[in-house]
Amino acid sequence: METKILSTSEYDIALAGEIIEGGGLVAFPTETVYGLGADALNEEAVKKIYIAKGRPSDNPLIVHIAEKEDIIPLVKEVTPVAKALIDKFFPAPLTIILPKSERIGSTVSGGLDTVAVRMPQNETARALIRAAGTPIAAPSANTSGLPSPTKAKHVIDDMNGKIDAIICGEDCDFGVESTVITLATEIPTILRPGAITKEMLEKVIGKVEVAKAVLEGMEQNEVAASPGMKYKHYAPKARVLLVNASKEKYEAFVNSKKDAFALCFEEDNITIPKITFGKESDDCSQARELFDALRQLDEMGAKKVYARIPHKNGVGMAVYNRLIRAAAFCIIDLEKPFIIGLTGQTGAGKGYIGTYLRSLGFHVLDTDIYSRKICEKNSPYLTILAEQFGNDIIENGILNRPLLADRAFSSPESTEKLNSILHPAILELCKKDSVFPSVLDAPLLFECRGNEMCYKSIAVLAPKEIRLNRIMKRDTITKEQALARMNAQNHEEFYKINSDFTVINDGRDIENQINKILEEIL
Ligand code: TXA
Ligand code: MG
Repeated sequence: METKILSTSEYDIALAGEIIEGGGLVAFPTETVYGLGADALNEEAVKKIYIAKGRPSDNPLIVHIAEKEDIIPLVKEVTPVAKALIDKFFPAPLTIILPKSERIGSTVSGGLDTVAVRMPQNETARALIRAAGTPIAAPSANTSGLPSPTKAKHVIDDMNGKIDAIICGEDCDFGVESTVITLATEIPTILRPGAITKEMLEKVIGKVEVAKAVLEGMEQNEVAASPGMKYKHYAPKARVLLVNASKEKYEAFVNSKKDAFALCFEEDNITIPKITFGKESDDCSQARELFDALRQLDEMGAKKVYARIPHKNGVGMAVYNRLIRAAAFCIIDLEKPFIIGLTGQTGAGKGYIGTYLRSLGFHVLDTDIYSRKICEKNSPYLTILAEQFGNDIIENGILNRPLLADRAFSSPESTEKLNSILHPAILELCKKDSVFPSVLDAPLLFECRGNEMCYKSIAVLAPKEIRLNRIMKRDTITKEQALARMNAQNHEEFYKINSDFTVINDGRDIENQINKILEEIL
C-alpha cells in the first residue's frame, strides 16, 4: 500500500478526514504521542489498526473526541466524577474509562464492557476528528512492542506502506502517552501514569489509587486491569538494564563497561557511547525525550544499555513506568549490596571460580579470610573457641588452625559447634565489605544461611576421586584426613537442591559455564 505523506494544512486534514470516514487508517500528531486513527464506530476499520500494529486483539483502544460533549453517546453515563475531570482538564493528555454504551463495538473495547475516551489538546488532532465527523479510535502509531512515536519520522519508520496516510506535524510536546484513569472501579485508579499526575487528579476528585502494575511487574496469571500493562512495551531491540544509583555511582559503574551504551541524563559525565533523555531535575524533559532516545539507541546498534533510573514522583512516574517496561523490569540496584553466593564441596574448585569472578570485576568476599580475621591474635572469639575445643588450640595467643580443624571436623556435632560461633560473625563482616558486584565465597553458604544475603547462589561440584586428590595435594594431608573432611560435608544432592545454579568442575569448560550463569543473573 502506498502511504500518503500529508502536512497539517487545512487541505490535507480534510483529505485525511475523508480517508477516516471511508474506513481507512491515518496516523496523526497529538500532544502525547502520534496516534494511528480509524473511525471508532466502524468495526472493520478498527480491525485494520490491530493488523497494522501487530497488536493483540484483547488490548483495547482509546476513542478520541473533538468536543467535551462528544463523550455522552459513547458511555453509559457521565458520572459526577467524570464530569469533574472533563470540566477541569479536557482537552488534555488524560484518558478516562467508563462503562461503554452500545455504540462502542467489541473490537474497540477489546471485548471489555468499558471504553477509554480522550479529548486531545493538539489542534491538528481535533481538526482531524471534526473533519472525519466521527470519534477516532487511536492507539500509539508504533509497531506493537516498540517505543511510541514522538516524531513524524518514527511513524514513517514503523508504518510507511501499512496505512493510508500519515499527517506529519510537530514533535510531540509531552512525549509519553496520556494518563489513563478508570472510573469504573470504586476508587478511581490510574492504570497508566502520564503528564496529568496523581496529585493533579486528587486535587479535583479526591483519593486516586495507582494500579500495582504501574510500578511493578505483574505476577504470572494475574489479570490485568488494563490489558496494555501485561505486554512487553516500549522496548528497543537493545537489552536495557535500569541502574538505580546516585549520579556518582552510576557514572563509575557505567564508565567501567565495555561494549555498552549509557541512557543517561544530560548532566551525567559518561565516557562510553551515550544517549541522553532530559535533565535529572526536569521530569517533563525526560518524558519528552525518552522514546526518541530509545529509538536512537537502536539506530546506533546498541546491544546493551545501562539506563539511569528516574525519580518516580510527578511526571517522573510516567517516565519510570515506561522505562521499567523497556527494561523488562530488570533493575541493577547499586544502592543495595549485590552478592552472588559461591559454594561447593571441598576440593571441587571453588577457589578457581572465585579467581575467575574476580577477573570479571567481582569483589570476592572470602569467608576463609574473614574467619582467619576473627581468629587473629587476641581476637575475643579465641576465648570462646578455646572454651569449646580445648585450651591447647591456642598457643601464645595464636590459634593452632590445623588442630582446631582436626577437632571441629571430627564429628558433625563439633562442626556445628564451630559454625555457630564463627558464621554470624563472618557474615556480618562480609556484609560490611560488600560492594557491587560481590561474590560471597563460602564453603558452608547454605548451612550458615549466607545465601539469605545473596541475590543468587552457585554451587561447584566435582567427582569424589578428583576432589580427594586435590585436597591431599593442596593441604598436604593424608587420605584419611581428607576423607574425614569430605565426609563432614553435605552430599552433592544437597547443593543441587539449595543452589540456583551448579557448575561441574570435571574438566569441562568452567569459564563458559560461569559466563552462561552470569548472563542469566545479570
Ligand atoms: O496518549 C495517548 O493516550 C495515545 C494518543 C495516540 O492518544 N494513545 C495511546 O493508546 O497511548 P494505546 O492504545 O497505545 O494505549 C491505550 C492504553 C492501553 O494500555 C490499553 O490497554 C488501555 O489504554 N485501555 C484502553 N481501553 C481500556 C479499557 N476499557 N480498560 C482498561 N484499559 C484500557
Ligand atoms: Mg501504545
